[in-house]
Amino acid sequence: QLHYGQISGNEQLKAHICDYLYKARNLNVSDVLICNGSQEALFLIAKAFIKQDDFVAVETLGYPPARQAFAACGAQLIDIKQDDEGLCVDDLKAQLECYAIKMLYLTPLHQYPTTVTLSPTRRLQIYQLCYAHNVMIIEDDYDHEFHYRCQPLQPMAADDPADIVIYLSTFSKIMFSAARIGYICAAPEVLAQLTAWKQLMNHKNDVLMQLAVAHWMKEGGFERHLKRMTKLYKQRYEAMDAYLMELQALWHPIEYKKPDGGMAMWVNFNKDTRHLKAQLAKQGVYLQTEAEFYFTNSVRSLKPVNYSYARLGFAGQSSENMQQSLQLVVQELYASVRK
Ligand SMILES: Cc1ncc(COP(=O)(O)O)c(C=O)c1O
Repeated sequence: QLHYGQISGNEQLKAHICDYLYKARNLNVSDVLICNGSQEALFLIAKAFIKQDDFVAVETLGYPPARQAFAACGAQLIDIKQDDEGLCVDDLKAQLECYAIKMLYLTPLHQYPTTVTLSPTRRLQIYQLCYAHNVMIIEDDYDHEFHYRCQPLQPMAADDPADIVIYLSTFSKIMFSAARIGYICAAPEVLAQLTAWKQLMNHKNDVLMQLAVAHWMKEGGFERHLKRMTKLYKQRYEAMDAYLMELQALWHPIEYKKPDGGMAMWVNFNKDTRHLKAQLAKQGVYLQTEAEFYFTNSVRSLKPVNYSYARLGFAGQSSENMQQSLQLVVQELYASVRK
């Protein structure tokens, strides 16, 4: 185990992940490729399958490191419109007819950054369109466990008769982001190509970490931890909802839709939020605002008229911190109105 072999990952860890994916996500796979977080997965996929100037479709608002990985490997990005229910199927159809799109990157369970859950109907329509146009779907399921209102929808990869979905997930949200354990599920020939690239890049993931996580999963600590964290995050999700409602009751023009899950809320402050990140950083608060989720270099770049949203993370902070930070946001945005 301590040699260069086992590029695709420690066998025990892979077996535990496969069991877990079947039990918790209805995803029936016999193999996975362990990688250095989702980020390496994204880069490997881009390196293996994107040629210079290939078109890759992405949600208009999205996860910047994914787009940067695709663009770094030569992709031309096509923004697809999204609405309150996620990616717009009609717009995807129109762009598929316009460009020879090779790949679609999606975050269907909790759209990043808006946290919207893509409905089963849209998932099916998107799948059928991608199948008809020979498009690979990259499904990034980064925080699957944290769904509070109901059971999370099974991944698109769980119903993929044509083998067009490359599924990736990570331990970054379950454990901590420095753990650097992610994995890819895909058709065997796809996994083989990705594994060949992985060998060229860094041989394999750190073995000690893989053994430690395998042991943790075997002993049941992993599942207990998930239960505890889901309970805690649900409390924080309710706390964030309660604070936002209090602010609405004070007539602040705040609008949001409580998501079914995830680790953040996507909030419309009905005021320009572009300056907010820097202002709050001065006061020690980390905030992600709408502007940072657009990609300026897309071939088809869709930009909003206003930048009035921010993504408010609730999972990683106590409810006291959350309340104080929200107060600062409100002061920064609406102080001039209240004076
Ligand atoms: C959409 C999305 N994908 C993946 C990840 C996790 O990346 P990694 O596994 O490289 O830490 C994140 C983390 O914030 C994310 O938001």
